[in-house]
Amino acid sequence: MLERISKLKEVIENATADSLEAVEQLRIKYLSKKGEISALMADFRNVPAEQKKVVGQKVNELKTLATEKIAALKESFSTNSDRELEELDLTRTATPVELGTRHPLTIVKNEILRIFEGMGFTIAEGPEIEDDWHVFESLNFAPDHPARDMQDTFFISRNPADILLRTHTSSVQTRVMEKTQPPIRIVCPGRVYRNEAISARAHCFFHQVEGLYIDKNVSFADLKQVLLGFAKQMFGPDTKIRLRPSYFPFTEPSAEMDISCFICGGKGCGFCKNTGWVEILGCGMVDPNVLKACGIDPEVYTGYAFGMGIERITNLKYKVKDLRMFSENDVRFLREFEAAK
Ligand code: PHE
Repeated sequence: MLERISKLKEVIENATADSLEAVEQLRIKYLSKKGEISALMADFRNVPAEQKKVVGQKVNELKTLATEKIAALKESFSTNSDRELEELDLTRTATPVELGTRHPLTIVKNEILRIFEGMGFTIAEGPEIEDDWHVFESLNFAPDHPARDMQDTFFISRNPADILLRTHTSSVQTRVMEKTQPPIRIVCPGRVYRNEAISARAHCFFHQVEGLYIDKNVSFADLKQVLLGFAKQMFGPDTKIRLRPSYFPFTEPSAEMDISCFICGGKGCGFCKNTGWVEILGCGMVDPNVLKACGIDPEVYTGYAFGMGIERITNLKYKVKDLRMFSENDVRFLREFEAAK
């Protein structure tokens, strides 16, 4: 009897299993009612009385050993996730997901686009890496125009063609004019690059929305009315505009537009440097040379164009003093726009 017990002990100690089913087979073999340990117990009554104490102890030890061994083998097959699942409290309140906010420049860009879409403009986009033709030449820039200079433009390659980072989104307007005959009514949002030293007032990249409308009989009065409509929606119904003569190679005549200061209502304050006006955009009638360069007949069609910096409009609307804040991604700054849509 003692020999049977110690043999069985050895077998059980060395038992292995390669699956949960194999563990179950072991349990049946040793621990079930018809198993080997039960058989031992059945034979117990045949053990001589003086040995019963020792043998009984050994059988009990064997049973404990087998039970522990089976449990250990079983445990080795249960995965972590099973165990985690057992501990999971499915009734617990979920951790709130923190939502991000839109970037202030995106908020303002969307607002500008929404206003122009309401006036019948559609959105056009184009590449940030451009060639000289689309950024300068087609737009009537003289070959020696200072804007082409290394100091203003980031050139990517001089040879064979001039490849550069666009300095304005007017290049998108050229691309649309080349492919489409009027009527054309588009707004072009996007990032532009200029080789400027980074400071509170200037950055080497910023964002624009430019607009273009070409059709028969488009006049300067149309331009003025559209821009007045924009200014009132963007800065409030009492906003006034004024146009000052200016110069751009691609428009003739050209103008710069001011809006009445929305801080003092035009009376003059620190914000508008006591003039009552703040400058917001450039505009003008598309130069006939530009239309010609893009395959549109200037004898039949006329058009206007305008362009504004999104940073500039955002600075005015939300009083952001330092341009660099837009690209630093300081969440304390970005969170301030949580309430804005
Ligand atoms: N392209 C000009 C700029 O980047 C803006 C502009 C667009 C001016 C259209 C007039 C007409 O500064």
